[in-house]
Amino acid sequence: MPKKKIVKSSLKPVRRKKFEPPRLLRGMKDILPEDQQYRLAVIKKLEDIATSYSYQRIDTPILEQANLFTRSLGEDTDIVDKEMYIFEDKSEDRVSLRPEFTAGLVRAYIEHGMLNRTQPVKLYTVGPLFRHDRPQAGRYRQFNQFDCEIMGGKAPIVDAELIAVAHSLLRDLGIDTQVHINSIGSSEDRAQYSNELTSYLKSQKRRLSEESKLRLLKNPLRILDSKAEEDQAVIAEAPQIVDWLSDESKEYFINVLEYLDDLNIPYVLQPTLVRGLDYYNDIVFEFYEEGETGGAQSALGGGGRYDGLIEMFGGQPTPAAGFAIGIERLILTMKTKQLQLPGLYVPDVFLAQLGKSAQKYSLALMDQLRLSGFQVRANLVKGSLSAQLKVANKIGARFTLILGKKELLDGTIILRDMESGSQEIIDIQKVEKELHKRLDREPSKPAVRTIGPIDEVVRAEMEHDSPNPEEVIIPPAEVVETVAPTVEE
Ligand code: HAM
Repeated sequence: MPKKKIVKSSLKPVRRKKFEPPRLLRGMKDILPEDQQYRLAVIKKLEDIATSYSYQRIDTPILEQANLFTRSLGEDTDIVDKEMYIFEDKSEDRVSLRPEFTAGLVRAYIEHGMLNRTQPVKLYTVGPLFRHDRPQAGRYRQFNQFDCEIMGGKAPIVDAELIAVAHSLLRDLGIDTQVHINSIGSSEDRAQYSNELTSYLKSQKRRLSEESKLRLLKNPLRILDSKAEEDQAVIAEAPQIVDWLSDESKEYFINVLEYLDDLNIPYVLQPTLVRGLDYYNDIVFEFYEEGETGGAQSALGGGGRYDGLIEMFGGQPTPAAGFAIGIERLILTMKTKQLQLPGLYVPDVFLAQLGKSAQKYSLALMDQLRLSGFQVRANLVKGSLSAQLKVANKIGARFTLILGKKELLDGTIILRDMESGSQEIIDIQKVEKELHKRLDREPSKPAVRTIGPIDEVVRAEMEHDSPNPEEVIIPPAEVVETVAPTVEE
């Protein structure tokens, strides 16, 4: 027998690359289900207040032409200089993830001819923004803002209203704020002041921090915002913009302050406040928690007037002003202060069911209760009653409705008060009435009835239920420890 020739394979063994598990990008944040509580409650509150002040919601794309931002925010600002997520898309257009809302809203105002609507146009929006900054507490590369703009109106009362709206939003969420406010005058005032400031700062150059020395070349006004210790003495002795304001800008500023006095809104005059974006004129402001000195990452929000921006983008000369509040910073502050939220997720009633027929009926009953205005929860996966009651307890349901085969046959349901642990059997047809009574709530409107008594389908299902379905054995109250609903992350 001929010897078998052993042919060596020329194929090298394939080395599998070690799979690197995907990771969150630096400066980005997942918002987990347990984190949504704050976020949703805060956004809902902000939307309610903005709507009550007649702001209308607008949504603009996250991606815009890059020059929308580079032109409006200013080439020498930190955002444009260092922080924009800018790239060329497949059509070779230079695009950018939005680093702020105002420019996009101005584009939309012009593009949709909003000048033809009743002026002023009051808009609000909420959503994610992107700035490639150094991440730290309260500063992320993707973050969310709530933004309000008034376009087509210039009067001190307009600026005061914007500040008042932001102040009420923060107050209603439990945060007492102070407004830091300044006027940076018209663009002519600012240009003259900027010359004066630059020659002063040049004369003090050797005392400035390295960063401020660089800013001296690019954007000297921003040196006033510097938090570097060595800059503080230079800033304190610097000429102040208020001395360069035209009479018109000065009067406007005084009028805004008078409105704030009338509205009892606490403010601090901040002559060095210039804000980090180029489009502003006259009134600029920032919101800080009361007692905060205005540290780098502590502004909860900020805004100001930008009367030249709409015209700069080719629209009719249209004055405008607005503000934005950072949602993450707001939530961070609420958590630090351990502020309670309105019970957004606290359900009125948990629906526990035992057996397939009860489970089936539960789906229809849940829908019916929801239509009647109740916050209903259930866990259709957990089988045993005690497991379901534990869930009801954990999520802080005020009442639990318990439905088993016997109840279905009798047309009843067990109503358990989760605070006292007491329970009673009630007519299933009267469940909404009972819940309204016990929750001390008026029925909002006659609900559409989606279910009747136990229907044929359920009856058929009952035939297939196990011959000895689990009895509804109600655990004594002490088995399920009832705790007050908590809102926590
Ligand atoms: P801004 O001062 O750049 O203004 O941002 C407003 C707020 O957004 C800040 O006070 C802060 O709460 C939050 N924020 C900014 N950057 C970050 C970040 N990297 N991480 C977390 N939160 C951040 C504007 O954006 C203007 N568009 C406001 C405006 C509207 N002016 C007129 N209308």
